[in-house]
Amino acid sequence: MRTGNTPWYNLTSAAAGIVLLLAASIQASATPNKAAVASAHPAATQAGQTILQRGGNAFDAAVAVSAALAVVEPQSSGLGGGGFWLLHQNESGRNIMIDGREEAPAAATPRMYQNADGEIKKRASRDGGLAAGIPGEPAALVHLAQNYGQLSLAEDLAPAIELAQNGVPVNADMHHLANFRKDLLKRYPASADKILTKAGEPLPVGTSLVQPQLAETLQSLAQDGKAGFYDGPVAAKLVAGNRSAGGIWTRKDLSDYSVVEREPMSGQYKTPAGQFKVVSAGPPSAGGIELLETLNILSGYQWSKLDRTHRVHLAAEAMRRAYRDRAAYLGDADFVDMPLAKLTDPHYAAGLRASITKDQATPSDALAPVTSAYRRQRGTDTTHFSIVDSAGNRVAATLSINFPFGSGVVAPGTGVFLNDEMDDFAAKPLTPNGYGLVSTRANQVEPGKRPLSSMSPTFVTGPEKTLIVGTPGGSRIISMVLLGILDFTHGGNAQDVVQHGRYHHQYLPDAIQYEPGALSPKVRHQLEAMGHSFKKVDHHYGDMHAIVVNHDNGQLNAASDPRGIGCAAVGTGGHSCALGDAIDADNRNAETH
Ligand code: GLY
Repeated sequence: MRTGNTPWYNLTSAAAGIVLLLAASIQASATPNKAAVASAHPAATQAGQTILQRGGNAFDAAVAVSAALAVVEPQSSGLGGGGFWLLHQNESGRNIMIDGREEAPAAATPRMYQNADGEIKKRASRDGGLAAGIPGEPAALVHLAQNYGQLSLAEDLAPAIELAQNGVPVNADMHHLANFRKDLLKRYPASADKILTKAGEPLPVGTSLVQPQLAETLQSLAQDGKAGFYDGPVAAKLVAGNRSAGGIWTRKDLSDYSVVEREPMSGQYKTPAGQFKVVSAGPPSAGGIELLETLNILSGYQWSKLDRTHRVHLAAEAMRRAYRDRAAYLGDADFVDMPLAKLTDPHYAAGLRASITKDQATPSDALAPVTSAYRRQRGTDTTHFSIVDSAGNRVAATLSINFPFGSGVVAPGTGVFLNDEMDDFAAKPLTPNGYGLVSTRANQVEPGKRPLSSMSPTFVTGPEKTLIVGTPGGSRIISMVLLGILDFTHGGNAQDVVQHGRYHHQYLPDAIQYEPGALSPKVRHQLEAMGHSFKKVDHHYGDMHAIVVNHDNGQLNAASDPRGIGCAAVGTGGHSCALGDAIDADNRNAETH
């Protein structure tokens, strides 16, 4: 059942009471005297600054940044994909989740990625037209501009249209990921024309990527609103492109799509420094639920008094239990009943905490087994940005087309890469697909259903400061945001939140994953002695963008992840993010004003 603006879950009355008390004790954040934008690409941050300079608010800037990312990071998000936009309207104090997640087409079935023998058809949910869900991002941008912005949709989209027309330099990340998906991209001439040379190689770093067809599609959206993408000539090209690549989209699937406004998940985390209100995405994202569950578990420990080894141990044990519950219960709220009140109840967390031994790992198979399970893992994809305007309105948004360049299919004549978000469904319950996550029938494919996501745009408000945060990174998104929240709630600034070494546990596989340098040999040795095993990730992961608002003086502190090429800018006077910086992989940016 779709619930529109109505909250679609009930906290227990005790938990709801706590949330109400907390809401009363935490005032709307002080109005910053400046704005800030932090995104994964300097040109997208610039687009947001430009719209703020032109009189737009944070929501207009969110439209501009989303659309600019669609142009400058076609490997990560775009009009052919979807996302979650978490909004805070400062005047009303309202938090709103715009669910622009992709939807399974009407002809989709639970067994569409299995052959007659029930075996998974390798890659069918990741490559080609059948992998693509009905996109949600264009509808979300229209909804945001029309319902929350101060400028017109056309004004908000103008910077992205210019970027598509004028070109942006190919950077090392785009080049690398085009190489990774090269064989797939070559199968579809419109995809190859867009991102590969005539010889079938990725466009060299520094080449200007000019996208006239994408500019036309953005112009159609700017001129005709939702109908400019979901009906008319653009819709005809999208459906033709999807079907010629093996997909099952219809014109009706597109015209039926609509965004859903949902009540975000919210709860609290208590530290010696005070209570923090955590607001994050609810289903079809697992993010908010897992964050609240892990924070509830960890609130029983004196985090600041723990040594590094015990912090990693206890966080990994909390993650293990929350990812287990994700596997067992979560899916699209419009299709499945989920015990959300239980999962976010502090009493439930206390029970889970009691099952954690201080100096010993709990094997995942000692937890209650998950039935009808399914495993998967995610590539380096997706994107995030954070914005605050001078009136205190905030946006945290995480957007995706799933794997790099999504399904690999550009619908001819549109310049739009179609997503492969159908892979976020359970292709076959009970069958591991060789990757990471586990999920059940709650997340099986059904017509019109939205696949379970890890995207976790989040606000954290404490007595003195508010954090706006999120990151790409597949199943590790939630653990990254958790570690960022722990840094922030124990005194960290935006730079601390985005840069610390990351580790992750997701129930199955039963191992702590960590990025290079995140865990010292001594800490690993001590964790091993407790019974933990490890899976070293051979590269850095995530691309977090954070803004911290100081309630007392309105000072802003913003940072983009040093692992990426993004740019955080405070203020809108002049552009502190240079487009040329995007070519260098080690560009770092953090600003405080
Ligand atoms: N496709 C990324 C996610 O939703 O988790």
